[in-house]
Amino acid sequence: MNDRVRLAPVIAVDGPAASGKGTVARALAERFGLPHMDTGLLYRAVALKLWRWGGDAGNEFEALRACDDLGFDPGDTELRSEPVSKIASMISAYASVRAALLQRQRDFAQQTDGVVLDGRDIGTVIAPDADVKLFITASAEVRADRRLRELQQRGMTAHYDDVLADIRARDARDAGRSVAPLKPAPDALVLDTSELGPDEAIAAALRLVEKRLGSPGP
Ligand code: CDP
Repeated sequence: MNDRVRLAPVIAVDGPAASGKGTVARALAERFGLPHMDTGLLYRAVALKLWRWGGDAGNEFEALRACDDLGFDPGDTELRSEPVSKIASMISAYASVRAALLQRQRDFAQQTDGVVLDGRDIGTVIAPDADVKLFITASAEVRADRRLRELQQRGMTAHYDDVLADIRARDARDAGRSVAPLKPAPDALVLDTSELGPDEAIAAALRLVEKRLGSPGP
């Protein structure tokens, strides 16, 4: 193990919608003092721009145009709204959109001080040489339950069956697309959080990272 691995690891966290990958990635970034990029926000930012334009998510060219000069406020609550989530899931299947967002993610991943990125294709496409690759998953039912509670906390009304159907549709789009489909990298450590609360999931992820890096964390 070299010093860079120990002191400045690149940690890739992938997984399906509402698997808890964001929670785990944020906690790892904090624990190791590393910068963190939630790559889903980039796709959401493109989706939000397209939505505000009244553009057509079924049109790859329009989606690609929305990638130009992509600036966004990560605190914009509309980024996490349901219409934007749906559009993000659709436009992320376009090869040209993925290509337009690739360099920004690679540049972030190549910072010399180590990083944490979370998304769908971090361990497979964005940072295939990452020091640690985690694939966070959970059953569709558990994820639907989490997403429902998240929506309710934000004061939205939603029904479990609709949320579950939406999660399944998103899984099918993520796993079925021809470019960068959602799948664990061959060397990814898979963590199923179906039976774990947030703190337990974070603790389990931390153990996996420390084991892979070969030393206890900071
Ligand atoms: O966790 P959730 O699926 O709700 O959202 P997210 O991680 O913010 O991702 C938003 C959308 O972008 C998803 O529908 C993914 O399909 C897509 N995405 C992607 O294709 N590749 C990434 N590296 C990150 C997100």
